[in-house]
Amino acid sequence: MFRSFFVMSFQSPIGVFDSGLGGLTVLKEMVKHLPDHDFIYLGDNARAPYGPRDFDTVYQYTLQAVQWLFDQGCPLVILACNTASAKALRTIQQKNLPLMDPSKRVLGVIRPTTEVIGDYTETNHIGILGTKGTVESCSYVIEIQKSFPDVTVYQQACPTWVELVESGEHLTPKAEEHVKPCLDALLGQCEGIDTILLGCTHYPLLLPVIRQLVNPAIQIISQGEIVAESLVFYLKRHPEMAGRLSKGKTLRFFTTGDVEQFGHAAGIFWGEAVSAGKAAL
Ligand code: DGL
Repeated sequence: MFRSFFVMSFQSPIGVFDSGLGGLTVLKEMVKHLPDHDFIYLGDNARAPYGPRDFDTVYQYTLQAVQWLFDQGCPLVILACNTASAKALRTIQQKNLPLMDPSKRVLGVIRPTTEVIGDYTETNHIGILGTKGTVESCSYVIEIQKSFPDVTVYQQACPTWVELVESGEHLTPKAEEHVKPCLDALLGQCEGIDTILLGCTHYPLLLPVIRQLVNPAIQIISQGEIVAESLVFYLKRHPEMAGRLSKGKTLRFFTTGDVEQFGHAAGIFWGEAVSAGKAAL
């Protein structure tokens, strides 16, 4: 299938946002599930990580990113970032969207994940790994409780993992030093955990290290596919939105950070060269 990375004119792509590189793990699955659509990806690498930032800062940064993607013509924006979904999504949906453009939509990654995650566990004990911001928001605990009241959720913040990925060090032996203590702290909370959710879109890049350190009987779930399937279902239920999205099979990348560095890192992840543009939010 032909997919152009370079076509510059778009009508109405799907906007995908993350604090940095992590949202690529979601974008990849979305492109697989919606191969004809146009996508535009924005990473706020200059200001990543979002995890340690306070509520209002994450909200302000995310709002700027959503506005930027709207300005590029996106009728639909996916916050492919758990921290932004936990700290900014609801306020943007309820307060800002009606003033910005009530016909546009902003969706997150937490709700689609919590709607299905209970189906993966047999023991009803699920572990969540996330950023400090996501864990402190308790969004996963609250949302999973609504969909799966019998499931007990255990959380562990992994404060250094996003920077590890952003710096490319997730591919070095140093990664294990950062990963093991967090896994031990999570699994030490309950022997019955049979499912671990990677509740940060950066973490699937650490999956080879995580998998090596965790008992093979424990499932490790990444969100990309779950979120992509949920988006396909959303577009079926919302033909008025589906009809507004353009289908030119194009993909553009933008970063607030260093374009060369982003292009290189995204290229490794994507498996082919990626050229990124600079975004000023
Ligand atoms: N990928 C973001 C998430 O899913 C990382 C947030 C951060 O920058 O700390 O939470």
